[in-house]
Amino acid sequence: MDKFAIRGGIPLRGSIPISGSKNSSLPILAATLLTRERCLLHRVPDLSDIRTMLDILRYLGAEVSFSDGTVVVDARKIAGEAPYDLVRRMRASVCVLGPLLARCGRTKVSLPGGCVIGDRPIDLHLRGLEALGSRITLSKGYVVAETSGLVGARISLQGPHGSTVLGTDNVMMAACLARGTTLIEHAASEPEVCDLATFLRSMGARIRGEGTGCLEIEGVDQLHGAEHTVVSDRIEAGTFAVAAAITRGDILLEEAPVKHMESTLCALREAGVSLETEKNSLRVHATDPLRSFQLRTSTYPGFPTDMQAQFCALAATVPGRSEIADDVFPNRFMHISELKRMGASAGLSANRTVIHGVARLSGAPVMASDLRASAALVLAGLQAENTTIVHRVYHIDRGYERIDAKLRAVGADIERQR
Ligand code: UD1
Repeated sequence: MDKFAIRGGIPLRGSIPISGSKNSSLPILAATLLTRERCLLHRVPDLSDIRTMLDILRYLGAEVSFSDGTVVVDARKIAGEAPYDLVRRMRASVCVLGPLLARCGRTKVSLPGGCVIGDRPIDLHLRGLEALGSRITLSKGYVVAETSGLVGARISLQGPHGSTVLGTDNVMMAACLARGTTLIEHAASEPEVCDLATFLRSMGARIRGEGTGCLEIEGVDQLHGAEHTVVSDRIEAGTFAVAAAITRGDILLEEAPVKHMESTLCALREAGVSLETEKNSLRVHATDPLRSFQLRTSTYPGFPTDMQAQFCALAATVPGRSEIADDVFPNRFMHISELKRMGASAGLSANRTVIHGVARLSGAPVMASDLRASAALVLAGLQAENTTIVHRVYHIDRGYERIDAKLRAVGADIERQR
């Protein structure tokens, strides 16, 4: 298994190009199943999660090619079953459920299974698809959904921790081919949901209200092929912004999706980081002393749970007491015990961590547990004295395109060891 060896303490300087968004690309790839015609997607990042989704599309019968960030999908003939061996590799594969149900009338998709960041039910996805007129049964680890014709309905996707991103995607995709109009209340308004709505509209779907929390979808008989360029990845950009901050460096993030990053940028400003937008880029510049900060994750436009771990790493290096709570995934704090092994002073209770910054973390062997936790450990390693070894970097390869090469290009001493 690959690992990273990082020798920290170098202020990072230079430019990093931001890739297309992973969390936009995955549901958009699933949406190509809604049409028999060819779809072309640009700026798709080359990540293991993306390759898993392409394998699922191929398994279902689609012809797929991927080169230089462009994916071509031809899903003329497809079957309706997605097996455990593929689905267990990535939770987001559950977003083929809505398109397969709408296109095939019957689908059998493996339940995605456990997740290290906490319990991740799909009850809201299923409730939404049932409201559209499908019968759903759970059998031997699979979701079996059947319909004799989807019909538009009024649906609330309010869950105990707010709305659901992939649940909104699933119901929105299915509703595109339902008879009549669907209203989704408490819909997720994340930029990735809006990007999916834009793609669906270019396929001929009739969708209004994305980004507002209330989606109106007027069903059509069929969708056609389309071409789309995926938006920039706000979480990748946010992670590199923290890399600039934690090393007290100066990085230009090319094509950073600044308008989608307001809460992350607000948190960086609170910590004393300087930010400047230049055309399509964001310059992040940090010098000591930075300040401690308070954060609480929530659904968009609130502070993203996918940036929580990276800000824990930053908090571990700024003077004073920072407090970070996660209301979206209350148990998503696996990185805290690893950060403590690097000398971080942090306590954990319920869904909240209190961190007292130290001047310098110390390099140590640490274990990546999930995608964003591994990003946090890499960031900590960039600041720490001596060498940090981050094990199990396959987690980070799921969501960051060539992170080691991008960091090396701005001066980091990071090496991938096989
Ligand atoms: C997506 C993102 C993930 C991000 C998360 C929250 C992708 C591929 N993944 O995941 O990176 O961390 O949004 O922004 O886009 N919930 C229920 N019932 C459901 C579904 C969800 O109770 O049926 C709960 C979850 O347990 C969680 C909250 O709702 O507490 C939000 O989860 P959700 O938005 O569904 O996350 P994902 O869409 O899986």
